[in-house]
Amino acid sequence: HEHLLSIEGLSPLDITHILDLADSYAEATRAGIRPDPVLKGKVVVNLFFENSTRTMSSFEIAARRLGADVISMPVAASSVKKGETLIDTAMTLNAMKPDALIVRHSASGGPKLLSRKVDCAVINAGDGTHQHPTQGLLDTLTIRRTKGRIEGLKVVICGDIAHSRVARSTTQTLHLMGAEVHLCAPRTLLPSGTETWGAASATTDFDKALKDADIVMMLRLQLERMDGAFLPSRREYFSFFGLTKDRLALAKPDATVMHPGPMNRGIEIESAIADGEQSVITEQVEMGVAVREAVLHLLAGGRA
Ligand code: CP
Repeated sequence: HEHLLSIEGLSPLDITHILDLADSYAEATRAGIRPDPVLKGKVVVNLFFENSTRTMSSFEIAARRLGADVISMPVAASSVKKGETLIDTAMTLNAMKPDALIVRHSASGGPKLLSRKVDCAVINAGDGTHQHPTQGLLDTLTIRRTKGRIEGLKVVICGDIAHSRVARSTTQTLHLMGAEVHLCAPRTLLPSGTETWGAASATTDFDKALKDADIVMMLRLQLERMDGAFLPSRREYFSFFGLTKDRLALAKPDATVMHPGPMNRGIEIESAIADGEQSVITEQVEMGVAVREAVLHLLAGGRA
């Protein structure tokens, strides 16, 4: 089976193929057209060991739109709480013959480990601080639709880069498609080695990074992954790294504002900006469904 575990290993051609198919699904939805039920008779299982609002519901909606039967396992209520391991849980579900397993896990590499044990397609819906490939794809599709291209755009991603699987997946996807991605964070949240993701620079100076930016993507502080090691005051963080109206004015006049969610208003982004004219945050959510329709179609429904 083919899986989607990481952006690594995808070519620009693969990405274009997924985005083109997702774009056609997005247009069909906007036009109120029901897509062909390419997943009719297929079983898709959502297995989320970490919380999710957007990813789990959008995978579920995407799979249903294409005619699949979907089970979303509430892991908190499952036998995982009785000590069953990730692999045993996966083997149990595998015995029920699903066609795709959508997996979110706090351990980096969890979905990959599982993919070696099951007979169906595995889609990584976020593993630890490692990868969130469908997020990278939906961010890239949102930008392509907003700006009409990816190549040559200056993208600034600011926030908790160190703990962000979104930062890695989105940087890799945009870099492969020809954008110039600049990462920005407080020193303690700026990991080394981001050039291997394809990042053009990594800086602590948000104001400087914003110059001539086409896209400004904000990330939240992932306090749940910090063990209390880095806890700046909210006010201090906002004063250096919060996206305000004044700061956004440093970017291009037509700069687009993004956020993968969940958003902490008043910490990394001013509410007026999150809800403002330059924001495409709700379009990102909309494209999340379209990208997941495309990925499920390609991995569980045969070739498009
Ligand atoms: N962007 C994202 O992954 O959101 P959820 O955690 O709500 O799925």
